[in-house]
Amino acid sequence: LTEEAPSASTTAMRRILPPDMVERGRCPFDPPPGLRGKDAVRPLDLLNGARAWLVTGFEEARTVLSDARFSADKMRHRDATSLQPHEVAAMEAAQPPKAEMPEREDGLFVFMDPPEHTRLRRLLTGQFTVRRMRELESRVTEIAVEHIEAMKAAGTEADLVPAFALPLPSLVICELLGVDYADRAEFQERTAVGLNANSTPQEQAAARAELYAYMRRLVAGKRSNPADDLLSGLIHDAQPPLTDAQLTDVALVLLNAGHETTANMLGLGTFALLEHPGQLAALRADPSLIDNTVEELLRYLSIIQLGVSRVTTEPVTLAGVDLPAGATVVIATPEINRDPRHWSDPDAFDLSRPRTPHLAFGHGVHQCLGQQLARIEMRIGLGELISRLPDLRLAVPAEQVPVRNEMLIFGVHSLPVTWS
Ligand code: HEM
Repeated sequence: LTEEAPSASTTAMRRILPPDMVERGRCPFDPPPGLRGKDAVRPLDLLNGARAWLVTGFEEARTVLSDARFSADKMRHRDATSLQPHEVAAMEAAQPPKAEMPEREDGLFVFMDPPEHTRLRRLLTGQFTVRRMRELESRVTEIAVEHIEAMKAAGTEADLVPAFALPLPSLVICELLGVDYADRAEFQERTAVGLNANSTPQEQAAARAELYAYMRRLVAGKRSNPADDLLSGLIHDAQPPLTDAQLTDVALVLLNAGHETTANMLGLGTFALLEHPGQLAALRADPSLIDNTVEELLRYLSIIQLGVSRVTTEPVTLAGVDLPAGATVVIATPEINRDPRHWSDPDAFDLSRPRTPHLAFGHGVHQCLGQQLARIEMRIGLGELISRLPDLRLAVPAEQVPVRNEMLIFGVHSLPVTWS
């Protein structure tokens, strides 16, 4: 299977992080060995000579994500030399090259602290209404069924990533933002380039620039021709009004935050279920276990590898470790959700585990805005997949499934599956 070509984020990760922190061991579902360990907080020496701090403890991660001394506004507070690879990648992914986006910081609320963050976040929360989520739920079902039936009509084998895991969240984002049906193929193609490990950095940059231009046009169109979608709602509800640059940033943040994440949870989640046949059989026997399955997959897989980080605004002592002001603190999300001080038998994938909150969606003011939508997509997507393909199985040995080592968001590049 294909060898990964270096995308912008992979090369950045490889340049800066020790290999054992990005490459998985024998089990692709377990965190990389370098993230494991007893110390809840420890120094992390990067290959570029900078020092950051790594948090692997569940409680300590909750503190970092809920204490105002840890800022998301990394540009303001950090020492510029400590720029982190995942932050570079996240920022690059969220926006096209600077020249085409002069007001680029306008709407990137993921990198803001309260009270700046609060206004945009509130406006957005107001758009994720129960009614809109309910409507999306029926569209998610239609999209899932359509793609599974197309796979079945085409034969008895498919690569689940392009056939199902990628298009589902991509089309859902189209629904949410109000992208015209006529533009969807083009839109999907461009978002897929950014996620394809075989695209060159130049191709990714070009696709990002095109998406930015597309979003700008979409925002302008919604301003003159409002409809019943999230962007039109934001245009209508915001007082004082949001600028086109802010709206474009917000749309791109939603696209990036909500697309690659869910796509990887669907692909890797299916892989994990197929590799745990006892658990999969339990789910098939009792479909009401689907909500537990979604939560356990979120915890067990915790795909945001090192993508959640903060910077200290003043010296802080955390778990007995003194952090100076301006320190970059990186949350090892896969490891905090396996912290043995918090979970019993944390490395087991167990659908009957009592439901207690995990941190796969983060915590505090930046906690995932799209978590209800992500849950809907996983519940319906995985539910339809296993009920419509009762003997779904891998088409290659598990060791040959290419995993997204060294990517900001973990998952599978492809998942060859078969059924009869
Ligand atoms: C924030 C995970 C799906 C939109 C976050 C954060 C995590 C996360 C860990 C916190 C980042 C931080 O504190 O620095 C995930 C996972 C998903 C998922 C694992 C899929 C299973 C989605 C979807 C959407 C979305 C479907 C939107 C449609 C966002 C946004 C933020 C965010 C906008 C930033 C919120 C803020 O800064 O206030 N997500 N996410 N996510 N997520 Fe998700």
